[in-house]
Amino acid sequence: MKAQVHVVVVGSGIAGLTVALHAVEGGCRVTLVTKDVLEHANTRYAQGGIAGVMFHDDRVEDHIHDTLVAGAGLGDPAAVRVLVEEGPARIRELIALGVAFDRDARGEFVKGLEAAHSYPRILHSGGDATGTAIERALVARLRASRVRVIEHAFLVDLIVEEGRVRGVELLIGDRQATDAAPAVAGSREELTADAVVLATGGAGELYAHSTNPAVATGDGIAAALRAGVDVRDLEFFQFHPTVLPGREDAADPGGRDAFLVSEAVRGEGATLIDEEGRRFAFDAHPDGELAPRDVVARAIADRMERQGGRPVLLDTTHLTAGGVDEADRAAFLSRRFPTIDQAVRARGWDWAREPIPVTPAAHYLMGGVTTDLHGRTTLPGLYAVGEVARTGVHGANRLASNSLLEGAVFGARAGDAIAADAASGIWPTGPDGSASSEESAAHATAPAVPADAPPFTRYALQELMWDHAGLVRDEEGLAHAAAVLAAWRAVPRTPRTEAEFEDENLLLVAGALVAAARARSGSAGAHFRADDRPQSAATGHAHAEVVAC
Ligand code: SIN
Repeated sequence: MKAQVHVVVVGSGIAGLTVALHAVEGGCRVTLVTKDVLEHANTRYAQGGIAGVMFHDDRVEDHIHDTLVAGAGLGDPAAVRVLVEEGPARIRELIALGVAFDRDARGEFVKGLEAAHSYPRILHSGGDATGTAIERALVARLRASRVRVIEHAFLVDLIVEEGRVRGVELLIGDRQATDAAPAVAGSREELTADAVVLATGGAGELYAHSTNPAVATGDGIAAALRAGVDVRDLEFFQFHPTVLPGREDAADPGGRDAFLVSEAVRGEGATLIDEEGRRFAFDAHPDGELAPRDVVARAIADRMERQGGRPVLLDTTHLTAGGVDEADRAAFLSRRFPTIDQAVRARGWDWAREPIPVTPAAHYLMGGVTTDLHGRTTLPGLYAVGEVARTGVHGANRLASNSLLEGAVFGARAGDAIAADAASGIWPTGPDGSASSEESAAHATAPAVPADAPPFTRYALQELMWDHAGLVRDEEGLAHAAAVLAAWRAVPRTPRTEAEFEDENLLLVAGALVAAARARSGSAGAHFRADDRPQSAATGHAHAEVVAC
């Protein structure tokens, strides 16, 4: 009898869990490894919901159009069509798994609206706890399946032999010291596999202000870069317009405890005002607060700069869903947005009575490991799904609530493809294998080191990236960032702990992101260059196609 193919999935968000379930159903032996516990992935924090054409008066073509327009015309139309056409079936599978999307009194799904959608096609669960509901249902299904799970297992590297992936090297059980317990040194182990799936999520830890949990350190992208796998579009990092800083540091916005205030709040009618109480989003775009996310985030950053760096305000005091007084407003906000309501009130704000301060923060990486429409990368046997992947669906700016959809659709596709590839005994590669500019730039000659480069710390890296590779970029700032990063990378280090490996990954991904941002001299979507030259469609990548939008 033919030996069962062994697949290792790295990561436990919606994409990793879905690919594992599909591969095991396809007859593979599957091990899922995750650096924390199964439930602790970025998926859990997704508030707004999942977009999909689930209502009879919505249209596939409209969701495709909205996705391509939000992506500044740089999305791959074939990938976007797959996403939108297959989305409803995947959403129905989630419902069958027990995800209870919110319904109205007649039992119909409640329609949610978010920025840049031409139709209110967002389904949500628990008001603003959609990611938690999905993660819980998928984890329950996985625990009941034949998938073997290894928690607290950090991906040190891919094992590559004879031009194909052969497994992963892991650091298992490494823990930092806490007030309650001393540090524990992890053990290094190799896990051999016929196929490996990167589902490691994004890299919000690159930036001083982020909506992501601390596990988002770009581990999969870094491993792919080290293995010479094609990585693209890293310059496209999305900044969410509205996070709530802690009340005590409102004058110094952001911070690691920044809390996401879902775009769905603006979808319900919340407005953005400056310190003088003026609505300013319409100055930037005719759709005002519901313009594409990159536009709104930059409008807020611009307004903050004009008012001395202080946050702008999100005004929900008029939202009543038909109610007329303050009690109605409070009841509506706590019913529609229970998670946000709790966080806002815990930080000392009563958003039924007063506008709350908000600032932009790093949110989602559109670029990543280049894949075909089945998650295949340029390395035989290696697949990538979810935020770590660059499938082409997001272009230069992801449409709200398309990320959970991407994880579900392409997770299922990759799981099915692995089972089929395993049966055929051939591990085809995805896109053509030419080295991307990110990969080659990451290994390029170091520029001159600035005399004032501070010593490396993760905090210093996050500040550098926020200041010079954040919402607004220019060549001078990017060149400075490149030089400092090169100086930091030139210092020999031997990482031993998980945190040290994460730092190396962040440094590598930061260098590649900055190189990609320098290579794209024109602004596009989330990549905004203050020194944009007239040829604004210039791109470092042959695959990009610019369409009017
Ligand atoms: C949000 O709820 O605003 C975030 C959802 C998303 O990133 O799509």
